[in-house]
Amino acid sequence: MKKLSMILIVLVAIGSLGFAKGGSQPGAGASGGQGGAGASSAQSLLVGIAMPETHVQRWQKDGANLKAALERLGYRAEVAYGDADQNRQNQQIQNFLTNGAKVLIVGNVNDGVSSAITDAAQDQVVVIAYDRLIMNSADYDYYITFNNYKVGQFQGQGLETALKLKEAGADAPKYITLFAGSPTDNNAKFFFDGAMSVLNPYIKSGVLKVIGPYPETSADNANFQRIATENWLAPVAKTRMENLLNNDAANVVLDGILAPNDTLARAIIEACLSDAKYADGKLPVVTGQDAEADSVLSIKNGQQYMTVFKDTAKLAEAAVLLADQIVKGQAPSIPGATLASGDLASIGDTGKKRVKAYLLEPVIITQSNWQVPLDAGHFTPDEAARLK
Ligand code: BGC
Repeated sequence: MKKLSMILIVLVAIGSLGFAKGGSQPGAGASGGQGGAGASSAQSLLVGIAMPETHVQRWQKDGANLKAALERLGYRAEVAYGDADQNRQNQQIQNFLTNGAKVLIVGNVNDGVSSAITDAAQDQVVVIAYDRLIMNSADYDYYITFNNYKVGQFQGQGLETALKLKEAGADAPKYITLFAGSPTDNNAKFFFDGAMSVLNPYIKSGVLKVIGPYPETSADNANFQRIATENWLAPVAKTRMENLLNNDAANVVLDGILAPNDTLARAIIEACLSDAKYADGKLPVVTGQDAEADSVLSIKNGQQYMTVFKDTAKLAEAAVLLADQIVKGQAPSIPGATLASGDLASIGDTGKKRVKAYLLEPVIITQSNWQVPLDAGHFTPDEAARLK
């Protein structure tokens, strides 16, 4: 029996070294609070994967990628999707705990998840916040995501380049309108603030004019709420765009639209196409994020202007490596991810604690490099076939 568990330890160790492609240098010692489930039991440990929704396509890929990466390391894994309903997700998390999960990887719907995270902590379950920070909780230690501020900067730079703002003057201003993601998703603030860090100087100098509400940053909560899109729902963005076109934007031709992700970008484009001013295909420059197949196709065909590719397969692998190292009591060392520090450390600020935030790098995608996500294997065979 002893021999068998030694063999298992060695196999698991070899597995995770191979997985880290030899780049990981896990140090010995404590993990800083959570963990300690023991290397010898890793083979049978259950990991609960709680994803927020399916109406934004990426999460289905995230769920599948996480499960596959965990199973490759010998863990058992269950995935649940919360349908943008925090009560439902909390129930799913309780089910994971009842089933004996020792690790939870959570992309939360909103900060109502914190009560379930407190329960997990009481059961000494390791919690990793995945992509979205779990706000208002001091009951977990780790967060893994992309540099979300940079995602927003890329969106701002997309508008800056496409509208030639560097060369433009206040005598011939460009007109834009602003959309943000869900007000209940902390990421939405980072995306918006990153974008506005690029756009605000042009607004101040009069080169850019904002049609509709203009929060200078997400800290202007009243105006931020007016441009935010509850639960990232496409119909909400589409209706708001239609209202803008019929009211504030009725007497101007919009040059650009800050859209926070691809799902909303396409809904906004749809609304524009039903307006006579844009129906002939002369669309405003519309930004996005996620490199969804439909949007990459739209970029290839010259409709949506840009997206941001976040290699979520790499995020899933990194999250699983992090989980594996914590479970084994090793100091986390995640190749390809940077531990947020300095200005970026606030990315891990839950309002109650600063958790360790590991950041992966996003990539800006326009018509000139739309193949990047395809080459990275980001698409299903069906999606890839549609893009060729
Ligand atoms: C994610 C985005 C996604 C959005 C809507 C955000 O938290 O970072 O990739 O588009 O949620 O699901």
